[in-house]
Amino acid sequence: MRLGSVNFEKKGKIALITLDEPSKLNALSAGIRQGVLESLAKIEADDEIRVGVITGSGDKAFCAGADISGFNFEPEFVRKFIRNVLPFLQAPEKCTKPLIAAVNGLALGGGFELAISCDFVISSDRAKFGVPEIQLGLLPGFAIVRLHEIVGRPKAKEMSILGEPISAEEACRLGIALRVVPHDKLMEEAMAFAEKIASKPRMAVSLAKSAYNRGLGGDEMLYAQDAFPFLFLTDDTQEGVTAFREKRKPKFKD
Ligand code: COA
Repeated sequence: MRLGSVNFEKKGKIALITLDEPSKLNALSAGIRQGVLESLAKIEADDEIRVGVITGSGDKAFCAGADISGFNFEPEFVRKFIRNVLPFLQAPEKCTKPLIAAVNGLALGGGFELAISCDFVISSDRAKFGVPEIQLGLLPGFAIVRLHEIVGRPKAKEMSILGEPISAEEACRLGIALRVVPHDKLMEEAMAFAEKIASKPRMAVSLAKSAYNRGLGGDEMLYAQDAFPFLFLTDDTQEGVTAFREKRKPKFKD
């Protein structure tokens, strides 16, 4: 079934959500965001479904982050963008059923954040993970709040400030990915893991998720929501976004 720009398939107790705009590296367009949210609502509403698996279509990317092609610098756009994107990225955390990100390629920016918002990341050995927003003069709003809890403060700062991607193996070492598997075994492994979870008692699984996620309240996201619009106002962000569109390196002011 097609939901927005996402394919939604029910396979017994497992729901498979495939982000499907590979020509834009499955960036978080309105269609992808709508499709993910509708898919999560279906997972929530269907008692038969016990676990969700999210992956990306195409060989190259899981998801390349926010849809830069839609960026503009009008205050109204910026306000809406931030207000939509942060709740979107929190939606997997809030889903009462376990979600697995089967990361098949690049997981960058919002794509990285979508992956860490899921309960588990199973990674292809070809995947790369990173928050490259600094190259646009921006920062990753969701990861700024969540990433240090996974990798520790210095590594989170390094990833955010340098914006350099890391390999699947390093992501696994850091605790971002639960395990790395050969690329052509990714879906098999992710589905087998999902089946294992689905065979456990529903209530206890759900309680485990809510217990571990109970510290992940929404309040700290308000900081990102309030502070991030200001980044869009800087000349460096306009230069970063323009440079991306012109396929050149940005020249930031000193
Ligand atoms: N939003 C919108 N479109 C995107 C995108 C994004 N986040 N990431 C990639 N695309 C598009 C490109 O514009 C390109 O479209 P085109 O063929 O119409 O020109 C297409 O996807 C393929 O990307 P391309 O840059 O040509 O591939 P590449 O292999 O040279 O580089 C990346 C891959 C991921 C390194 C590069 O696309 C990139 O840096 N993307 C942005 C990542 C990012 O900063 N994410 C955080 C956003 S806040």
